[in-house]
Amino acid sequence: MEKYSLKGLLFVTFLLVNSMSSSFADSIEEGKIVYLDMCEECHQLDGTGMNGVTAGDFVNDESILSQTDAELLNTIKVGKGDPVDGMPPNEGELSDQEMKDVLLYIRTSFGKK
Ligand code: HEC
Repeated sequence: MEKYSLKGLLFVTFLLVNSMSSSFADSIEEGKIVYLDMCEECHQLDGTGMNGVTAGDFVNDESILSQTDAELLNTIKVGKGDPVDGMPPNEGELSDQEMKDVLLYIRTSFGKK
């Protein structure tokens, strides 16, 4: 058992945990880039959409983020509401991964802590 020292095991565990948390952080970082590029003009930097005037209010309208990831990802993909003033579709603009990343950014930044 000398081969697998406790120190070595701890180090491997550290590497594993570290790589997992950094991919989570990378996803949020990617999501932020997408958000600032594609969503911020309507939803605003603070996620309130000017209290729901320019877009859905992620911070105060609990009916939005209480939906499942599948429901929200579908809305991000196909859009919602009025074709002119509503939520525009992102299909073809964003990859599935980018839509997941931006949703993760929205949940971690504006959702209930
Ligand atoms: C042109 C303005 C505009 C842009 C850009 C925009 N949105 Fe929206 N968004 C809206 C409006 C308006 C609504 C409210 C739609 C409704 O409820 O009819 C909305 C609603 C939403 C909702 C809530 C839908 C629901 O079920 O209530 C989500 C989630 C969302 N947007 C995500 C995003 C993401 C992610 C981006 C960027 C990729 C984005 N939006 C870009 C205007 C915009």
